[in-house]
Amino acid sequence: MRTGEMPFVPSKNNRERTGFMDTFPMEYSGNNLGDYREGTLAVRTMGGHAGVSLTYVSHRIYDGKEPLEGLPATFGDKDVCQTLEITCEDKVLKLQVLLSYSVFADTDAIARSVRIVNGGDEAIYLTKVLSACIDMDNEDYEMMTLHGSWARERGIQIRPIMKGKQSVGSVRGESSHQEHPFVAWKRSSTTEETGEIYAMNFVYSGNFLAQMEADQFGFIRAMMGIHPDNFCWKLEAGESFQAPEVICMYSAQGIGGMTRNFHDLYRQHLIRGIYKDRKRPVLINNWEATYFDFDTQKLLEIARQASALGIEMLVMDDGWFGHRDDDNSSLGDWQVNETKVDGGLKYLVDEVNKLGMKFGIWFEPEMISPDSDLYRAHPDWAIQIPGRTASLCRNQYVLDLTRQEVRDYIYDQVAAVLRSANIEYVKWDMNRPLSDLGSYGLAADRQGELLHRQVLALYEMQERLISDFPNLLLENCSGGGARFDPGMLYYSPQIWCSDDADAIERLSIQAGTALLYPLSTMGAHVADCPNHTVGRVTPFETRGYVALAGTFGYELDVTKIPEADRNQIPEQVAMYHKYNDLVRQGDYYRIAHYAQNHYYDCYEVVAKDKSEALVTYIQVLNRPNVHSRRIHIPGLDPDRVYVIENTQDWPEMEQTQYRGDTLHYAGMNIPPIFDDFQGRLLHLRAI
Ligand code: GLA
Repeated sequence: MRTGEMPFVPSKNNRERTGFMDTFPMEYSGNNLGDYREGTLAVRTMGGHAGVSLTYVSHRIYDGKEPLEGLPATFGDKDVCQTLEITCEDKVLKLQVLLSYSVFADTDAIARSVRIVNGGDEAIYLTKVLSACIDMDNEDYEMMTLHGSWARERGIQIRPIMKGKQSVGSVRGESSHQEHPFVAWKRSSTTEETGEIYAMNFVYSGNFLAQMEADQFGFIRAMMGIHPDNFCWKLEAGESFQAPEVICMYSAQGIGGMTRNFHDLYRQHLIRGIYKDRKRPVLINNWEATYFDFDTQKLLEIARQASALGIEMLVMDDGWFGHRDDDNSSLGDWQVNETKVDGGLKYLVDEVNKLGMKFGIWFEPEMISPDSDLYRAHPDWAIQIPGRTASLCRNQYVLDLTRQEVRDYIYDQVAAVLRSANIEYVKWDMNRPLSDLGSYGLAADRQGELLHRQVLALYEMQERLISDFPNLLLENCSGGGARFDPGMLYYSPQIWCSDDADAIERLSIQAGTALLYPLSTMGAHVADCPNHTVGRVTPFETRGYVALAGTFGYELDVTKIPEADRNQIPEQVAMYHKYNDLVRQGDYYRIAHYAQNHYYDCYEVVAKDKSEALVTYIQVLNRPNVHSRRIHIPGLDPDRVYVIENTQDWPEMEQTQYRGDTLHYAGMNIPPIFDDFQGRLLHLRAI
C-alpha cells in the first residue's frame, strides 16, 4: 500500500490528507477531499456543498447473489456464486455506501455494484455514482476499447495508456453505435492466447463512462458507471439508489481467454428465458426484401417460398401499422394498417402458421412520430425542453417513458397486438439517440434523473413483456447494434448486430461483438446482393458461412434472388441445424483478422468436450502466385486426432487427419483459393 512512502513534496510528513488520499489506492473513491484523481461518487448537499469520503464500517459474505431491483444483473445459485458486501459510510453526510462483489466459481468474473443509502435527515443530490473503480500499478498496460458508427459497430482499438485521462462513453441515452460500455487493459506483451488482461463491461443500456487515468506516480485508475453528464439524482432521507452492475473480468490466457470467460458468464449467468440454451428458428425478415412496400399477398409469397426451402419463421418488419409507408409517420399508433395487411393480422399469421412457419413482428415502442394520432393527442409525451423546438432524428421523437401513463399506454398497445394472433417473436427496435432532455412528468429538481429513469422504464417494460409472454423470442435492436449490451441481453437472448449485413463488413462487426458476447446472441442474416449498405457482391455461400456465426436467418426477397442462390438455402439451413449446438455452446477462438492482415479472416468454435470444432476461413482478397497459408488452430485436445470433414467444395482437405497439438503448434496449410470473398468451413471431428 506504500503508506510509508512520501506522498507529495519531499517531506517526512506523510499524514496530511491531501497527499495521502491522492496516492492511496481507493476501492471506491470520493470527491473534493484530497484525492485529485477522478472520483466515483460526488454529491451536492442541500447546503450546496460537495465533498464525500468513505470509510469501512462492516462487511458480510453470503452464498448466492441478490437481484438488483429494477436493473438487469448476473445471477448465480448458492453453489456457484458468493457475494461480499462491504458497508462504508461518510459520517458527516450520514451516507452509507454498500459495495457488492459477487464471484462465480465457473468463470474469472467479479460482478460489482453499488447502493447508496441516505441515512441523513434531509435530501441530498447525487451528481455522480459510478459502479466500479480499480486502482493498480501500471505494469506496461495498453487500453482496449470498441468504437464504431451506424453500420460499422464495435471495431477493436488498442492504444497505449498515456498520462492523464482517457475515456470512452455515451451521452446519447443508449449504449451507442459509437463507443461501447467496455474497457480492458492488457500488458503490451499479451497476445490473443497468452498473457494477462483485465476488463470491465457495464450491464447497462444508457449513458456510460469508461475511463483509465494514469497518475503522476505511474498508477492507473480504471472506472466505469453511469456518465455524470446530465445526471443528478435527488435522494430523499431514507431512500436508496442502486447503481448498475459492472462485470470485472480477468484472464491470464490472453484476449481470447477474456472472451471465453465473458461468453461463459453471459450464457450461464445473464441470459434468461426458454431460448437461453435453445436453437432459434431460422427466420426470414422482409426489411431488405420490401422495405415499407408490402402487403399480405407479398408477405405470403415470401413465406411460401421460404417454407418450401426450410426457413422456419417470417418476420414482418417496419411499416405494418398506422399509415406508415415511409419513416415519416405513425410511431405510437400500433394499430394494424389493414390496407396493407389486408385480411387482418390474424389472417396473415394463421396463413403463415399453416405453412408450418412461426410469425414474428417489429415494434419501436419507445418512439413517437410527430405525424401520429398519439402525438396529436399528447404532444407532451415526447421528451423535450419547454420553450425549445425539440430535435427530430429519423423524423421522430422519444417518448417520455419516465411517466407511468406513457409506459402503460404503449405496453397495452403492444400487448394487444401480440394477443391478437399467434405471434412468437418480437423485434424491439430503437432508432434514435435521446436529446433535448426534458420531461413534463418530472419536477424541476428531478430533471437530472430523466436519462436513468428512461432506462429503468425500458427495463420495466421489457420485464413485463417477457413475464406476460414467456414463450416469446425477443430480439432487441437499435438502428442495427446501438444497444448491443449486457443490459439488453438480460431481456432478450439475441440482439440485431448491425444494419450492415455485408459478409465482409460483418467479419469485423461480429469479431468486435464476439469479443464480449456469445455467438448465440448475435443477430446475423444472409442478406441481398449487391449489398444494400456497401454495394459489395459476395457469393451466397460466403454470406451463409458468416451468418452461421450468429443466430442465422435471411433478409432478402427469396422470390427474387437468383435460382442458383435460392437452391443453396436448404443446404444452408441444414448446415445451421448441424452446427448450431456447437456454435451456440462452444468456445470461440479468433485466429486471424483481415483488418490486421488485409487478406483473410479465420475463427473457430470448439466443443466444450473438444470432440469437434468448426473453423470458418474467409479469403477476403485473393493474391496472385501465392503458396498455401499456414493457420494455427488452438483449443483442441492435444492428444487426440481430428479428421477434417464436410469439405465437399474443398476435396484437397477432405478426410485429412491431424493431431490436436499439431494443428495448434505446427498449424495446417490452407491451399490457395481462387477469387475474392471466398469462404470455407472446416469441421474437425475427434476420432
Ligand atoms: C432499424 C433496424 C432495421 C429495420 C429498420 C426499420 O434500422 O435496425 O433492421 O428494422 O429499423 O425501420
